[in-house]
Amino acid sequence: MRTRSIVVGLLLMLVAGLVVGCGIQGAPDFSRAEHTPIPRIPPATLPPEPTPEPGAAEAAAPAGCRVYPADLIGAWVAAGTPKDEPFPFTDLDGQQCQATFEADVLPLFTQSGVWYDGSPPCIACHNANMVGTQSNAGMSLETYEDILAGSYRAAPDAQGNDILGGGNWEQSILYERLVVKKDMPLGRPADSPDKGLEVLAGAPVGEGQ
Ligand code: HEC
Repeated sequence: MRTRSIVVGLLLMLVAGLVVGCGIQGAPDFSRAEHTPIPRIPPATLPPEPTPEPGAAEAAAPAGCRVYPADLIGAWVAAGTPKDEPFPFTDLDGQQCQATFEADVLPLFTQSGVWYDGSPPCIACHNANMVGTQSNAGMSLETYEDILAGSYRAAPDAQGNDILGGGNWEQSILYERLVVKKDMPLGRPADSPDKGLEVLAGAPVGEGQ
């Protein structure tokens, strides 16, 4: 009997101790809370998150439609090589998109790194200085007019050989060299991507038009 009441007594003390202990621990401890690294709800004094404007999500997304350079040039040729008018193309996500020559097609001839990592720009070899010579196919790819004037031009005002297949992209000299033979830019590695490196061009139809 005696042992039992001692045990009961000890248990009671233990329980009481726990209750008191928990009571103290459960009380708000502001000094600790201030240093806690747990993410906290921002104080009401912080400026509220700005409400996004309609269309802001699209504006924040990367601008343009994903497409391979050769496919974009092909769409431009198929559309009749418009100079200022937007032309349609389907992007790699299946979206209907629009691009323009100046902003989206010309850079594929004038910029480096379009066809494979570190590829030289076409105009490094095909520029106005070559027109009237037999060097580098006597061709400039610097401007809209140059590209339409073609290769082996006798003079700056002369028309050369059509490199755009008369509007039939897959019959064109340009397609043959860029996609079939894959030997332009000159020195292009055989294992480089068939249609160049993916670029962002134009915009989905209906956006900001
Ligand atoms: C390092 C110099 C160099 C670069 C860069 C270069 N080319 Fe050429 N290209 C040549 C030479 C040289 C020729 C003429 C010999 C031949 O046809 O292979 C030629 C010929 C061509 C022809 C054939 C024209 C015809 O009527 O037979 C096309 C089309 C062409 N290049 C397109 C391009 C395009 C597009 C680019 C850029 C993607 C490019 N080239 C970059 C040197 C270059």
